[in-house]
Amino acid sequence: MCGIIGYIGFRKATDVLVDGLRRLEYRGYDSAGVAVKTAEGLKVVKRSGKLSVLEAALREEGLEGHLGIGHTRWATHGAPTDPNAHPHTTEDGRIAVIHNGIIENYLELKEALKARGHRFSSDTDSEVLAHLIEEKYRGDLLEALREALQEVRGAYAVVAVHQDHEEIVAARTVSPLVVGLGEGENFLASDVPALLPYTRKVIFLHDGDVARITREGVEITDLLGNPLLREAVEVDWSLEAAEKGGFPHYMLKEIYEQPWVLENTLGGRLLEEVGDVDLGLELDPLEVDRVHMVACGTAAYAGLYGKYLLEGLARIPVECDVASEYRYRDPVVDGKTLAVAISQSGETIDTLEGLREAKRKGARTLGVINAKGSSLTREVEAVLYIHAGPEIGVASTKAYMAMLAAMAMLAIRFGRARGTLGQEEARALIRELKKLPRLVEEVLEKRPLIAHIAEKYHQAQDFLFLGRHVQVPTAYEGALKLKEISYIHAEAYPAGEMKHGPIALIDERLPVVVLATQGPLYEKTLSNIQEVRARGGKVIAVATEGDEEIRKLAQDVVYVPQVHPLLSPMVSVVPLQLLAYEVAVLLGRDVDQPRNLAKSVTVE
Ligand code: F6R
Repeated sequence: MCGIIGYIGFRKATDVLVDGLRRLEYRGYDSAGVAVKTAEGLKVVKRSGKLSVLEAALREEGLEGHLGIGHTRWATHGAPTDPNAHPHTTEDGRIAVIHNGIIENYLELKEALKARGHRFSSDTDSEVLAHLIEEKYRGDLLEALREALQEVRGAYAVVAVHQDHEEIVAARTVSPLVVGLGEGENFLASDVPALLPYTRKVIFLHDGDVARITREGVEITDLLGNPLLREAVEVDWSLEAAEKGGFPHYMLKEIYEQPWVLENTLGGRLLEEVGDVDLGLELDPLEVDRVHMVACGTAAYAGLYGKYLLEGLARIPVECDVASEYRYRDPVVDGKTLAVAISQSGETIDTLEGLREAKRKGARTLGVINAKGSSLTREVEAVLYIHAGPEIGVASTKAYMAMLAAMAMLAIRFGRARGTLGQEEARALIRELKKLPRLVEEVLEKRPLIAHIAEKYHQAQDFLFLGRHVQVPTAYEGALKLKEISYIHAEAYPAGEMKHGPIALIDERLPVVVLATQGPLYEKTLSNIQEVRARGGKVIAVATEGDEEIRKLAQDVVYVPQVHPLLSPMVSVVPLQLLAYEVAVLLGRDVDQPRNLAKSVTVE
């Protein structure tokens, strides 16, 4: 949620800030602003709307300086207006502050500050930080920040500058912050892509870290001022990988990266000879007797897929919850429960809190995570990285694919360790997993057909998605993709459940996408298609190559290659991602930055 960038060095600060904000826009984008230290003091320019609005304002103002901070906002407290945009300044304009997260006790703090004579110019919780820092300031900005934060409850990545100091000070708790190290210049950002044009050498700040960044270096302490040593790491993401690579949208690029992503996720982990996988995890599957999947949105659907596989192959009971429910439902957990937190960003606060709840109750923990160095990676006992590379499109695609592959590997490992999955069966699955990158490549070639289907149905008001068994999560994911980027209402149901209610929705205006790939429940799915047809519904089927039967029943068929039925979601989700994409493009939607959404949701 929200993006932060900071720069101190020899370049024109506004160039670095605007460039960084552009790379961070996916984190939230209803307003943006910068503060730059100029010869005439600290100057702030901020605007509601897209970054281009801020850019136009900056062209007029022409701020000259080599030290500055910038922010893109996704509104939580206070509407997306110019005054509510960050940076926030003190009344005398000498201190500017930007903040991601939520200050839980801000009302209390604001009242007290007002009573002491502070005047506020925004409705945000963040502005209290500027005033608190001002009160604590006695010549050392870092010390003032540390003292101010002692009074704050909540989540924050906070960054401050003072017009008399050649430094940027920053601190984090919950919300991410990364320092980028250069030569004679240094950077700060809420995420790595903003730093990649300048440096690959970074320090991930931890919860409770406070940092002073100058041209020469970085000094990190805890909130009490005790010095801390944080290792710098080289990130291996190329700038190109973080940019669009010739595609019109990040989302499309990321859909097309999926064969490569699968190679990456599976690479080096599949031991076909012995019929097992090497996940490099310390965790012994025999020490756990049940699994709780804790995740949100798309990642939660990957968890649901994991349930089918872990229960089927490893005979271990699995519960799946969206993390925001898990946290509050008082789940039954003991030392033999394994909580599996699944997350692309590793920063989703609901998932983090759900995981913490499981930990408090004594669970063992595993993270299935994409973003290295993210908060979640530091809170789990073991991490299974999915290696999907940076995902910029707000709607998750390639990370989902990688999560599915990770779930399949986890189920094989658990099944082998628990003796419920035979060597031959495991080897067969592994051989099929190895084929997946090529099979997904084949599905991508169906894009023209899917574009044609999108053309036929993009004016529909509603869509229904149906699937059975491992294709239930695929149906949920297909509906979510369509909703979030096209704004068309879509529902997903287990196909067998349709007759218990949603069947009432069906008429000749309703396109029904049915996952009808080969598997033990194929015949039953065909019966559900008949039920839809009998009521005039239009059926778009995703079916296995060679299935001629389905042509007689469905108006449109997208064939996907034959694969082990348990792995069919990996080939079947691709047409649904493309369908959502093509429909959204036809409707003129903002595919990479759909309204109301943010890539990384770090508020509850
Ligand atoms: C949907 C989407 C979201 C995320 C969810 C969890 O396309 O991207 O539903 O899956 O917000 O995010 P992560 O995986 O970062 O925890």
